[in-house]
Amino acid sequence: MPTRPYVIDEMISAKSIAARIEDLAREIAGSFAETDKLVVVGLLRGSFVFIADLVRELDLPVEVDFLEASSYGDAMESSKEVRILKDLRGEIHGRDVLVVEDIVDTGFTLHHVINLLKSREPKRLRTIALLDKPVRREVDVKADWTGFEIPDEFVVGYGIDFAQRNRNLPFIGKVRFTEGD
Ligand code: IMP
Repeated sequence: MPTRPYVIDEMISAKSIAARIEDLAREIAGSFAETDKLVVVGLLRGSFVFIADLVRELDLPVEVDFLEASSYGDAMESSKEVRILKDLRGEIHGRDVLVVEDIVDTGFTLHHVINLLKSREPKRLRTIALLDKPVRREVDVKADWTGFEIPDEFVVGYGIDFAQRNRNLPFIGKVRFTEGD
């Protein structure tokens, strides 16, 4: 449970997200135009809304799979040690794969997942993140496609949580504490 009261200030509207996803989906479809089937891998849980909207805009044959990596838990700080809590159901050897992440923050999660999936020798492995906080980066990693670059703010909504809350907001908002420090 969050310890202090907070409010959420809208940062990126639902409309802007939808418009950006249309553009990204067009670029991705162009880049994988000749694929027989693209395996779209959502990183749980934060990407579940993003992946749902993205695949519906993708004019390609797709398969959807999920991977869960440990992240913040209930805290606001990232853990450098990434553990796989739930692995893919399907094989990706020789397949075209797109990893879908909600936010790249320190970069530890995406870096770890890329290395793990590369070791399974996919044909092509590409990554997309809805949000990127470049100033927070500790590992040199960048998604192939990014929805929005944002400043160093703690954000929620559109699938992204603060201590398991606020995932159901249709927009991205930043958390602002209203009391204390
Ligand atoms: P990284 O390993 O530090 O890049 O962290 C990535 C993960 O941390 C994301 O997939 C999110 O689950 C979580 N995260 C990073 N920034 C935020 C935030 O502002 N709000 C909520 N979760 C975040």
